[in-house]
Amino acid sequence: MTVHFIGAGPGAADLITLRGRDLIAACPVCLYAGSLVPRALLDHCPPGARLVDTAALSLDDIMAEIRAAHQAGHDVARLHSGDLSVWSAMGEQLRRLRALGIPYDVTPGVPSFAAAAAALGAELTLPGVAQSVVLTRTSGRASAMPEGETLAAFAATGATLAIHLSIHVLDRVRSELLPHYGPDCPVAVVFRASWPEQRILRTTLAALDPAIGRDERTALILVGRALAAEGFDESRLYAADYDRRFRPVGAAPRFPE
Ligand SMILES: C[S@@+](CC[C@H](N)C(=O)[O-])C[C@H]1O[C@@H](n2cnc3c(N)ncnc32)[C@H](O)[C@@H]1O
Repeated sequence: MTVHFIGAGPGAADLITLRGRDLIAACPVCLYAGSLVPRALLDHCPPGARLVDTAALSLDDIMAEIRAAHQAGHDVARLHSGDLSVWSAMGEQLRRLRALGIPYDVTPGVPSFAAAAAALGAELTLPGVAQSVVLTRTSGRASAMPEGETLAAFAATGATLAIHLSIHVLDRVRSELLPHYGPDCPVAVVFRASWPEQRILRTTLAALDPAIGRDERTALILVGRALAAEGFDESRLYAADYDRRFRPVGAAPRFPE
């Protein structure tokens, strides 16, 4: 018996890996975080599977479900939205499973920042503009930010920021970032990336209206010069004169064939 943690993707039911889909189809028990996991993914569960929405459960309740499945010898598909490596609460579940000696594995999923970038048709790391992406959030009721992990500290690097769980504090986001990125810095807010209800708002830091998040909280805030840059350098990798292992150039290539 194994608990399979599966990244369920950002919302579109076909943005899941083949491995994730096949594991769901093979498990007689499926625990899913109902707030963001698309219901259509549950169609992959085998007939008669036990389906449990964990949105209203405590960690103890979830572990009770898993222990019951373990005793019955039933594999469990455990679905969380996006990818499991960020804000999934997987870490605490894995720690309990290790303590109980219950086997598990992890199958990655498409994270929401990647779905938002795809919706924008944007590369977040443009040569000479930004070469880092910071996946971050602001303090919430359930999780305070560790000291030092402030928006201002990340903004000081000039990296592209992908700010999660923060659509309700846009005024704070704007005031912390303005001194670093300047009023004309591009901002894109992607609501429900990849869902049928997906909506995109492109603006600047100065014009960012804090009220836009009033009705929809599932949104990613992307900030940085890469979002609207046109005058960036082309990558050297594909330059005609760039000598590399897979495309030797010149009379004395660095990697002769
Ligand atoms: C609890 S976190 C889950 C993150 C998830 N594990 C991931 O890989 O993206 C939920 C936050 O992720 C962002 N998010 C999740 N799905 C999204 C989507 N489809 N479109 C935009 N933002 C999304 C929002 O900021 C939301 O408040």
